[in-house]
Amino acid sequence: MSTILITGGTGYLGQRLLPIAAEQAKVVATARNPRALSRLYNPCAMDLCDKDSVFNQVNAVQPAVIIHAAAINPGIDDSLLEPVNHIGTGYLAEAANRIGCRLVLVSTDMVHDGRSAPYADDADPSPINDYGHSKANGERAALSANTNTVAVRTSLIYGLDSVDRGTLGFANRLADGHTLTLFSDVMRQPVWRDALATSLVHLALTHSDETGVINIAGNQLVDRATFGEMMLKFWEIPVAHDAIEYIQAAGRNDLAGVPLNVEMSLARAQALGLPTPGVNEVIEQHRKGL
Ligand SMILES: NC(=O)c1ccc[n+]([C@@H]2O[C@H](COP(=O)([O-])OP(=O)(O)OC[C@H]3O[C@@H](n4cnc5c(N)ncnc54)[C@H](OP(=O)(O)O)[C@@H]3O)[C@@H](O)[C@H]2O)c1
Repeated sequence: MSTILITGGTGYLGQRLLPIAAEQAKVVATARNPRALSRLYNPCAMDLCDKDSVFNQVNAVQPAVIIHAAAINPGIDDSLLEPVNHIGTGYLAEAANRIGCRLVLVSTDMVHDGRSAPYADDADPSPINDYGHSKANGERAALSANTNTVAVRTSLIYGLDSVDRGTLGFANRLADGHTLTLFSDVMRQPVWRDALATSLVHLALTHSDETGVINIAGNQLVDRATFGEMMLKFWEIPVAHDAIEYIQAAGRNDLAGVPLNVEMSLARAQALGLPTPGVNEVIEQHRKGL
């Protein structure tokens, strides 16, 4: 059985990725605090800001593949975006390269400016915010340090077994009596985390000769407001009739860092047979108990 080292196992994606990967490989999961992880996944400590910690763990584990799902998302601590998403990803790619290990890197549609959709798999990054810059720099660092790397650009991640961070934030704001402000012209392809996790494991083990950049997202393009409302409805979060305000990000200087339409072509993912269900389809299948 191959060994897959997985970073970000405590994160929203990582929590589903670990059990899905463990069906097919020995998993070693990393976290800054490994006690936050189940023993089922052979937890070990790794801080991406600490080069020695990255190199020592990769050397000790000798994985065949690393799935790199750790990152700093926007709104957490922006001073860590570059150190973790760029520099730390570079350390990991270099450490993987030294032992001949494949790297599957989770990237984002936020590497695009949102003005030239649809974006091909190999579209050059054109980020317009700090998070997008840090992830684009991370992609570049990984692809140049280790030629056996595939970078997966994905979209808003949601699950139907635990509520995603965006929806949780909306629910908390509503519970506090605030009005929600949702973008009606910001287009995304929300990705079901089970499908994304399955694709990452396929790229790690089955399609192990795929390198470069690949887009993996849901095949349904939807505006942020509609997607937000769909998730609030799914989780049965009460919304008063006047609790949502719809705004357009286009043309607003204060929202210049919000990419408008980052629709990505899914041609390469679909040619490989990777699952890319849209959000309506995922909810429908869930309702039918499939
Ligand atoms: N969520 C989305 O909608 C979305 C959309 C597009 C792309 N992505 C990408 O998908 C991936 C997973 O996102 P997510 O939402 O699951 O992330 P998340 O829930 O915010 O989890 C972040 C993970 O990164 C780890 N981490 C943070 N700083 C670290 C450091 N210095 N060293 C080691 N690990 C560190 C955290 O581990 P500890 O804090 O436990 O150490 C945690 O496991 C990321 O690459 C993200 O950029 C996410």
